[in-house]
Amino acid sequence: MNEKMTIAVVYGSTRQGRFCDTVVNWVLTELWAESGIRVTLIDPQQLKGPAGEAAVNVAALEEKIAEADAFIVVTPEYNHGYPAALKELIDSCYEPWHAKPVAFISYGGLSGGLRAVEQLRQVFAELHTVTIRDTVSFSNVWSQFDAAGNPFKAAEAKAGLLVMLRRLMWWASALKAARAENAYSGVAA
Ligand SMILES: Cc1cc2nc3c(=O)[nH]c(=O)nc-3n(C[C@H](O)[C@H](O)[C@H](O)COP(=O)(O)O)c2cc1C
Repeated sequence: MNEKMTIAVVYGSTRQGRFCDTVVNWVLTELWAESGIRVTLIDPQQLKGPAGEAAVNVAALEEKIAEADAFIVVTPEYNHGYPAALKELIDSCYEPWHAKPVAFISYGGLSGGLRAVEQLRQVFAELHTVTIRDTVSFSNVWSQFDAAGNPFKAAEAKAGLLVMLRRLMWWASALKAARAENAYSGVAA
């Protein structure tokens, strides 16, 4: 399949001054250098209700998730878990997630966010997604990027990202074709 795949990059943090922006910006730079990919952003900070209320704007979110063929979730770790805002976003819709692949980029202190990722795998299984084995992880994240937002170990980080991305794209392509051939909603109906 040669058509472009839409990858939605999902921000995990809504904290003011979040490091998430630095990590996402690096991911975007690398994704934009790739061909065959259209990138969209899903940011819980931008998905407030019409009056700016805290609740996620479900209609806008559903549209963004529905148009995506694959997801890269960029998550920090908070107290050995993933942020509450990310859970609210994930739980805000159901079917648009189905039969799509999800990859993770994580960051944090010592653990590099890996505990958050393992918990997210359980959550995403319930949403009929396929999670990608390969991850990119930044431990002690504040010491991993220079002032311009580039990783100090740029080649290593990029190599890890590309392995994850190739596998994500394989699943994105395979599942897009499968969904087109046979609607997932009807499989067990
Ligand atoms: C409340 C809180 C709890 C945290 N708990 C952990 C943790 O359990 N493990 C870890 O590796 N880092 C932990 N950290 C470090 C964060 O992962 C790190 O500060 C990261 O930059 C937070 O992401 P953000 O800046 O995008 O919000 C914690 C930070 C905060 C604010």
